Amino acid sequence: MNKHIAVLPGDGIGPEITDGAVRVLHAVAKTFGHTFTFEPLLIGGAALDACGEPLPERTVERCLASDSVLLGAVGGPKWEQLPGEKRPEAGLLGIRKALGLYANIRPARLWRALADASPLKCAQDTPIDLVVVRELTGGIYFGARGTREDADMGTTAWDTEQYSVHEIERITRIACSIAEKRGGRIVSVDKANVLDSSRLWRKTVHAYAEVNYPHIRITDMLVDNCAMQLVKDPAQFDVMLTSNMFGDILSDEAAQITGSIGMLASSSLGDGTRGLYEPIHGSAPDIAGKDLANPIATILSAAMMLRDSFLLEREAAAVERAVGEVLDAGYRTADISPADASRVGCRQMADLIAERI
Ligand code: IPM
Ligand code: MG
Repeated sequence: MNKHIAVLPGDGIGPEITDGAVRVLHAVAKTFGHTFTFEPLLIGGAALDACGEPLPERTVERCLASDSVLLGAVGGPKWEQLPGEKRPEAGLLGIRKALGLYANIRPARLWRALADASPLKCAQDTPIDLVVVRELTGGIYFGARGTREDADMGTTAWDTEQYSVHEIERITRIACSIAEKRGGRIVSVDKANVLDSSRLWRKTVHAYAEVNYPHIRITDMLVDNCAMQLVKDPAQFDVMLTSNMFGDILSDEAAQITGSIGMLASSSLGDGTRGLYEPIHGSAPDIAGKDLANPIATILSAAMMLRDSFLLEREAAAVERAVGEVLDAGYRTADISPADASRVGCRQMADLIAERI
């Protein structure tokens, strides 16, 4: 199989972790007889430095011409003072929107070898294996916003949470199709006791699923309760369906209970097969360039690309198996290492995984 992959390293640890994932993909190509070509492109702060904008037109064009996109992370203190539309994060939101990627899928599972890295006491004997399905191109991230001078209140800023039936239905369809292949259970998370947009969310999720996926069991949970339930009894969750902002927050929480945010992969999908694959963590500027980052979230994101965009199930499973073997062998990057035992850097971790493909 021939595939052309756009690679957007971005900022901070982005270049190191994408480099690791590309080396693993090279190993997959060699072992399974595929040809993968990689095209590096600018995004985020790196793009701001090079051409004054966080998402150059060329990056969008070339991503649209690719079979799939692998992304590192964006952002850093250097660009924090810039106005919203000029921040590196605007590049990430822009590419998600430009590629029509409305569904963000974030699996959180506890790797056997990492049970002691979880802050939860119950982690040793609780199977955590859930998927957060996060709406990605709507809600408060993309609603109207502004800042105004108010005579009485002083400077006032506002953002809007807004969802349409169309947006809710299409993300519900994705969640149902994922739940179908798993435990068949969805918890839809909202704030329907306060927000109109959540009341529409809840009503639409049930109306759509009852007609199109009657065999999927859907229950509702308020987001504050969900944050609590995640640390109290994470094993109760199979698929969690939620909005852009709630999904952003809950997926970080889900990541931490499985040991480290450095382990969590994600895929962002739309109606086609082209997706954007990225770790859920950020650019970690404090450890950038020190060979300390954990490349596993990005490597597992590459595995999701193999499975979801290229339908290469065997190859995806080989990557996941290699990650498991390296962890079972006791190798750890700093974020998941209890002491200094078998501590390896970003590069070596990626090479250890690549060797086992
Ligand atoms: C994520 C990140 C992004 C988001 C930021 C960097 C804009 O936190 O992918 O979870 O909020 O979507
Ligand atoms: Mg986030």
